Amino acid sequence: MVELKNLENGFSYLEVSNSSSSAKIALQGAHVFEYKRGEEEDILWLSETSAFELGTAIRGGIPVCWPAFGMNNPDLPQHGFSRTALFEFVNSKEISKDETQVCLRLRDTQESLKLWNYKFELELIVRVSDTLSLELKTTNRDTQEFKLTQALHTYFNVSDISNAVVKGLKGKPRLDALRGIVFIQENDIKFDEEFDSVFQKVNNEIILGYKDRKVSIINEGSSSVVVWNPWIEKGARMSGMRAEAYREFVCIESANAYEDFRVLKPNESHSLKATIH
Ligand code: BG6
Repeated sequence: MVELKNLENGFSYLEVSNSSSSAKIALQGAHVFEYKRGEEEDILWLSETSAFELGTAIRGGIPVCWPAFGMNNPDLPQHGFSRTALFEFVNSKEISKDETQVCLRLRDTQESLKLWNYKFELELIVRVSDTLSLELKTTNRDTQEFKLTQALHTYFNVSDISNAVVKGLKGKPRLDALRGIVFIQENDIKFDEEFDSVFQKVNNEIILGYKDRKVSIINEGSSSVVVWNPWIEKGARMSGMRAEAYREFVCIESANAYEDFRVLKPNESHSLKATIH
């Protein structure tokens, strides 16, 4: 079942539920901000102090960073403009009693063309079951080609970051954005300081382990993965979260970033997919 709900301030979201799972997806940003399987705690982290209002990106869940990841395009806001753009709810489908699909769409507008002068169609297709899958499909509707960098910027709930370990990135080239160096990652990742790196040439499953729980992340249409935690100082400066909240999440972002950018010619499409289980 899919229901459109509205907060008093006009902020709208879709509430998706079936017999295996449930999710909430804001129309602003096509932002999945809750995903639960049965009685389990949420796999996604959501800041309890996040704003839910038009014009401000939600802190937590799965922000869609598009058409530029980070500050890849200095003419655009950090992570592009889709996080605060209002998507249209296209349709939903009950695939089975355990699985629901929802499609949201964004097209260029007069405002988007002022920021980024290309015509486009962007769709997010979300499948909610005991697995959460997202397909972010970009189509170039312009007469010129454009460059795309992007991410499904997933915040995973780890309760306490000292219990978290990220596996599957050992042996991959790592661009450490904090030190500005590239080297080969030698170990599985644990966290005891600020972490902000792009792993390249990743075409395998990534496992996030914490306590006795394991989350699997499989990406398609992507060979770059961003791992991020702001730690103490940056965490205290971040908008939409408590200073200590950095301990509760790690971001593992399914991306097309840095060398893994895409160039789309007119009428070409590209899909970035993340499957989380
Ligand atoms: C990550 C970047 O992807 O997003 C970080 O690697 C950045 O450098 C983080 O701080 C959060 O960005 P924002 O715009 O949501 O505060």
